[in-house]
Amino acid sequence: MTQAPQGRAAAHATTPVETHVETAMRRALALAAQGPPYGPNPRVGCVLLDPGGRTVAQGFHRGAGTPHAEAAALADARSRGIDPRGTTAVVTLEPCAHHGRTGPCADALIEAGVAAVHVAVADPNPVATGGADRLRAAGIEVTTGILADQGEELLRTWLHAVRTGRPYVTLKLATSLDGRVAAQDGTSRWITGPQARAHAHTIRAQVDAIAVGSGTALADDPTLTARTVDGSLFEHQPLRVVVGRRPVPDDARLRGPGGELLHLPEHDVEIVLRQLAEREVRHLLVEGGPTLATAFLATDAVDELHTYVAPVLLGAGVSAVGDLGVTTIDDAARFTTQDVTRLGDDMLMVARRAEGTQPTLPGRLSRHTKEEI
Ligand SMILES: NC(=O)c1ccc[n+]([C@@H]2O[C@H](COP(=O)([O-])OP(=O)(O)OC[C@H]3O[C@@H](n4cnc5c(N)ncnc54)[C@H](OP(=O)(O)O)[C@@H]3O)[C@@H](O)[C@H]2O)c1
Repeated sequence: MTQAPQGRAAAHATTPVETHVETAMRRALALAAQGPPYGPNPRVGCVLLDPGGRTVAQGFHRGAGTPHAEAAALADARSRGIDPRGTTAVVTLEPCAHHGRTGPCADALIEAGVAAVHVAVADPNPVATGGADRLRAAGIEVTTGILADQGEELLRTWLHAVRTGRPYVTLKLATSLDGRVAAQDGTSRWITGPQARAHAHTIRAQVDAIAVGSGTALADDPTLTARTVDGSLFEHQPLRVVVGRRPVPDDARLRGPGGELLHLPEHDVEIVLRQLAEREVRHLLVEGGPTLATAFLATDAVDELHTYVAPVLLGAGVSAVGDLGVTTIDDAARFTTQDVTRLGDDMLMVARRAEGTQPTLPGRLSRHTKEEI
C-alpha cells in the first residue's frame, strides 16, 4: 500500500494545479467576453498554443457577419508569420461543422493542421453541432468540458435560447421597499436613484430587445433607448417591443431615435416569445409594467429577475406584480439569488430561475445556427 504524502507534499497533492490548457481556456473565455453580448451569434474565444504550451495566436468573434473565433485565431497566427500546423486550439465553444456565411470552423482547423482541440462547451445547436466528431475523424485529439461551468455562464443567454428555442427573459422591476412600482396617481418617476437608472441602461445596451406593455407605453411615453450617463445613445440599441392591443400613438417617443419599434397586438406570452425568437432575439428584457410582468411570471417565462429596490415607502399604489394564482406559501414563485449590489441609495438583487428548471412553455420554438447568423 502506498503511504499518504506528508507535510508540504501532502498540501501540494491536495491543491489542484491548473493545467496550461485551463490557463489558456481562461484566456479564451476572457477574449470571448470581449465580443458583443447581444446579437444572434454566441460569444466565442480561441487561443492557439505551440507544442510547448505557449500562446502563439488568439482571436474572438466580434458578432454576426465577422470571422468566427477559430478563423480569427488562425488569421492572427498567419499575420504573425506563424504556421498553425501542430498547434493546440483552445476554444470556448465546440467548432461548428456546417457551411454558413463561412466554411465550417472544424474544417478550417483540420486544414490548418492543428494537433489537438480543447473545448469548454459542446455546441447544442443541431445544425452546427458535430465539429468535435469531424475533428476526431481527422485524427485530431479533442477534449470537451474544460472550464465548462465558466463557459456555460458566459454563453448563458445564447445557450438558453438555442436549447429551448425561446429568448432568455430578464424581468426588470424598480420598486419601493413595499413592492410598489407607481404611486396611487400612477406616477413612477423616479422611484430609484440615478445610479440604479444608469445601471439599468447598461443592461439595456446588452440585450436584443426590451418589452413593455401598452399601459406603460401610454402612461409613461418612454423612449426605451439605452443611454449613457450623459444622455447619449449607446452604439447598440435593442429592438423596442410594445405588447398590447392598443396602438402606439403616432407622436410617441418610442417612434423617435433608438432601436426598431415592434408593436405586438397580443396578450399571449408564448406567441410574443415565438415571434421574438423568429426575429433571432436571444435575450429579452421585460421592463413592465405590472400587467405584463405578471403575465410573464404567470406563464413561467422569466429566467432572471433584476429588482432595483429603493428605500422609499408608498403605502398604496401599483404593486410590482399582480395575482400569480399563489394561494399558499408553498406555491410561491421562487428564484435563487445570484448577486446583490448597492447602487447609491438603492439595491439591485439579481435572482435566477432555480437551477435545472426549464421553462414550461411547450416545445422548441425556433433554432438558428451560429452561421445562418
Ligand atoms: N417602476 C417600474 O419599474 C415601472 C415599470 C413600468 C411601468 N410602471 C408603471 O406601471 C403603470 C402601468 O401599469 P400597467 O399594468 O397598465 O402596464 P403594462 O403592463 O405596461 O400594460 C398593461 C397593458 O398591456 C396590455 N397587455 C399586454 N399583455 C397583456 C396580458 N398578457 N394580459 C393583459 N394585458 C396585457 C394590455 O393593454 P391592451 O388593452 O392595449 O392590450 C394591458 O392593459 C404606470 O403607472 C407605469 O408608470 C412602473
